[in-house]
Amino acid sequence: MTRKVNSRELKIGMYVDSLDRPWVETDFLFQGFLIQSEDDLESLRRQTEFVFVDEEKCDMSSSSGSNPAVPASGQHAEKQMREVKDDIKKAYIVRSKIENSFSSILKDIGMGKAVYVGNVKNTIKEMVDSLINNPDAMLLLGQIEEVDAEAASHAVNCLIIALAFGHFMGLKCEELETLGLAALLHDVGETEIPKELLDPARIKTAGEEALVRRHTELGRNILQKIEGIPLSVIDIAYSHHEQVDGQGYPEGVTSEQISLFAKIIALVDTYDRLTSAISGKMLTCSEASHYLYIQREIKFDKNLTEKFIKCFGIYPIGSLVELAKGDVGVVASASEGSHLYPRLILVLDPYKHPYYPPRLINLAAFCEGENAADYVIKKMLPRNAYGFDYRAYIRREFGMVA
Ligand SMILES: [Fe+2]
Repeated sequence: MTRKVNSRELKIGMYVDSLDRPWVETDFLFQGFLIQSEDDLESLRRQTEFVFVDEEKCDMSSSSGSNPAVPASGQHAEKQMREVKDDIKKAYIVRSKIENSFSSILKDIGMGKAVYVGNVKNTIKEMVDSLINNPDAMLLLGQIEEVDAEAASHAVNCLIIALAFGHFMGLKCEELETLGLAALLHDVGETEIPKELLDPARIKTAGEEALVRRHTELGRNILQKIEGIPLSVIDIAYSHHEQVDGQGYPEGVTSEQISLFAKIIALVDTYDRLTSAISGKMLTCSEASHYLYIQREIKFDKNLTEKFIKCFGIYPIGSLVELAKGDVGVVASASEGSHLYPRLILVLDPYKHPYYPPRLINLAAFCEGENAADYVIKKMLPRNAYGFDYRAYIRREFGMVA
């Protein structure tokens, strides 16, 4: 039940349900939030004369100072959005570094020059640190980067997904660094395949198919000549297209003969291809997860596949979803304890007009109450839904210049 309250009479712990003006005319990013600081009060008094308070959602214990624990849903929206932006910018800097050092490796390989992997290894170390501190930002960044089918982009995406999954699996830092290097370099043999054949739609003959398959052997040969590449990474470049049922290539070995990391890279590689422009299909994250699930025990290791799907949740970070009320948002992070109610960056309103600025909303704050049905995720959307380039929009709104 809501009641009208003069903004001067507001107190910490009250839940602001609506304002005396449209949310878009204010700088509040949550549509509904718990007042939890003097800053919140000052912002409300500056921008409104009165608001409507939802008494059922109020938490007056926080105003007495007796309970310092603040529910995630009540944190101030502006501050939270600033934190999301800062985290993504930090991730952007590390990602740019790895893209640059990996691109120069590809260039050196193409020119037959001696290759130095020290920079790449150091940057992967930085990424492991960054990812352990904040996996959501790195994953979200991976999803909003410009869509292209370049080798560097796919490789860096694979690196991020592999590190997030490896971290979820409890791998140690050194293991994550090896897995990351393997994710980055697993398809390096494709640099010796004619570019047009890297688009699956353009492979027409068995001969062309066989040539593309040779990228595993070519990759192994390239990596064997580079100083400082661990043997396990070379093995992964050679065996990441093996299948647990023995129907893969190049050797057609079965599950017991495929290393754990090669099995992980097989999942990561397929997942990124299916959800990006490379496969030409651009599935939603849940469609891609469903494909992996169907192929468990055929192409992929059953246990690993199930863990992989669990790791990325029902609504993976960076996926685009539509709420029952019609708003479209990007999953920014999973709410603690519930993958069903993530935090979203709202990008389109119910009429499919962009929000300026984007709004941060925590669905967990709406999972109960009279409006709960409006805030249920109705469906997942492909990245290009409603003809809206949400990646360019977020990059622009977050001040990330390509
Ligand atoms: Fe491959």
